[in-house]
Amino acid sequence: MNFQILFYTLCFIACFTHAEAQNVVLEINTNKKGAEIAPTMYGVFFEDINYGADGGLYGELIKNRSFEYPQPLMGWNTIGDVVVKDDGPFNRCPHYVRLSYSGKRDMATGIENRGFLGMSLLGGEQYRFTVWARVPEDGEAQLNIGLRDLDSQEENFTSCETDINVCGSEWSKYTVVLTTPYTIKKASLTVFLKGTVPVDVEHISLFPVNTWHGHENGLRKDLAQHLANLKPGVMRFPGGCIVEGATLDTRYNWKHSIGTVENRPLNETRWNYGKERTHFDYYQSYGLGFFEFFQFCEEIGAEPLPVISCGMACQFNNDITKKGSWLAQGDSLKEFIQDAIDLIEFCNGDPEKNEWAKIRAEMGHPTPFNLKYLGIGNEQWGEWYAPMLKAFMEPIRKLYPQIKIIGSSGPWPDGKEYDDLWAEMRRVGVDLVDEHFYKDEEFFLSGVNRYDNFPRKGPKVFAGEYACHGTGKKWNRYYSAICEAAFMTGLERNADVVRMATYAPLFAHIDGWQWRPDMIWFDNLRSVCTSSYYVQQLFSTNRGTHVLPIKVTGNSEKIYASAVADKDDNDAVIVKMVNTGEKDTQTSIKLKGMSGEYTMITTMLSVFDSTPLENVNYGADKVHSLLDCDNSLDNPMRIIPDTVETKVMCPHVTIKIPAHSVAIFSFKVTD
Ligand code: AHR
Repeated sequence: MNFQILFYTLCFIACFTHAEAQNVVLEINTNKKGAEIAPTMYGVFFEDINYGADGGLYGELIKNRSFEYPQPLMGWNTIGDVVVKDDGPFNRCPHYVRLSYSGKRDMATGIENRGFLGMSLLGGEQYRFTVWARVPEDGEAQLNIGLRDLDSQEENFTSCETDINVCGSEWSKYTVVLTTPYTIKKASLTVFLKGTVPVDVEHISLFPVNTWHGHENGLRKDLAQHLANLKPGVMRFPGGCIVEGATLDTRYNWKHSIGTVENRPLNETRWNYGKERTHFDYYQSYGLGFFEFFQFCEEIGAEPLPVISCGMACQFNNDITKKGSWLAQGDSLKEFIQDAIDLIEFCNGDPEKNEWAKIRAEMGHPTPFNLKYLGIGNEQWGEWYAPMLKAFMEPIRKLYPQIKIIGSSGPWPDGKEYDDLWAEMRRVGVDLVDEHFYKDEEFFLSGVNRYDNFPRKGPKVFAGEYACHGTGKKWNRYYSAICEAAFMTGLERNADVVRMATYAPLFAHIDGWQWRPDMIWFDNLRSVCTSSYYVQQLFSTNRGTHVLPIKVTGNSEKIYASAVADKDDNDAVIVKMVNTGEKDTQTSIKLKGMSGEYTMITTMLSVFDSTPLENVNYGADKVHSLLDCDNSLDNPMRIIPDTVETKVMCPHVTIKIPAHSVAIFSFKVTD
């Protein structure tokens, strides 16, 4: 029995008393089913920030695999006679490398890649190496492919290797699978020329064979699995600011992200700007593109929610006081509108009738992706946005009236811009408005009533980016997660207005982040889910289908609660309660309309142990309080939900809820 289970057992001793405990009463009327809770209510927001895509969720291990970075050999070490050329077989990625005999005895010719922020390989795992190659002078030549252990003190760095024969002057794809016998933390891939006949190489790729669902151009399995485990109702992608780009040319161009992976052009990410945490070598390969996003959404059962550029580059990166190249106007806006229309066709169109739908079919998905939602613009504000949005909406409404359109309320959750934008969004008649709030504890706790008096008519709310940023403590911490949970009870009580909510950002590489807090952290081998992740999971996996009225009385100052019924689970009643205070509570749950024996499943996120632990991305020495800590890569299971099942007699159940905890009670008819 672990410490937490023991705790729960003690909770059920009928006359539990605690000097510090205070009384709270939750009254739920289970006869009064209220608003429907949208299946999309709790979802995920994906953005390629913090190396979330290349070097993160995308399984590719080779940085700059097509030699298209601004300096074509970025990410590569070379030895011998290595020359970059630019008339390769893929017109949008024209660079490749020619490996020729060095002419010197004992001097090899070869190239080495050390991955994104390093490369790590798991012992016993298979890795698929592929390369496009040819013998420019025709004939036959050999390459030696190796995986290296750079920490090795042996005579040879190479941990496993194989030779491949390259034949003829036509470009062909060559594949070999390599397995290292043991886990290598600091690894690299090498490609050496054998013999004296030159060889051209292009699109050098290395993937684990064991990706999510085994796709060759696949996703890193542990990270994809964390998302699947959230059971998200919706997945927003590809951002965030990268939707907009620092310039219009570097916006996320979905058309560049589909089709043959070898021919997807490189893009400069908006997150490689500034000088604070710039990594200099952070680019987007588009290997994780729109086809892969839609396919993944289908596999995890999430509604896809693409957000596209509205023709405005990131307003934080540009002088927005005047028109300029950051703003598409007139004819140039038409291209952006066409992109939106083509995207809908790519997802839902008939491959026999539409060129974009044909690409979808050729990529392996002849049936539609069934797109229902489209975000137009990310964080936009100012005089231009609404008219530009309207220009998108007119043809889309006419051609695809079933598509729900999401507009922006800007980067701020209140104030003049926010109010003006909401007025404009009502005027143009979008279906949902995307709100963003990266705010402190106070905002999240008082914001629990944010939507109680919100207009019930007009566009609905998509809380599209939010996370509690502790005052002076902008890192992942347990107390911030508790505040997010409290806030989410308010979203849930107002599920008639709030139809979607997605925490942001999702991923961060421990050695490559630009923004924190984030939901999931990882290095090249491991990953860790934060307390914020578990809060999201508790809400998402206990969503229910209808809101139930709840009244909280007693010593309720730091108590936040919501209740739902789940018609898909035999009308189970689920009560969520968050205790943000420092005192335990003796809680009475009164369930009007229920009587007799029920099974109560209690799932709780709490901290029971008073030793502060290191923070995932913050020096342990600087963390003073347990509430400022979170799980870490070395200690990933410290704060995780725990579940117990008991029999209770309804309508009246009494239970102790510890200080600073999130508790979910699910009442089901006993079989
Ligand atoms: O989530 C990080 C960034 O925050 C997003 O890219 C942007 O939309 C917001 O400003």
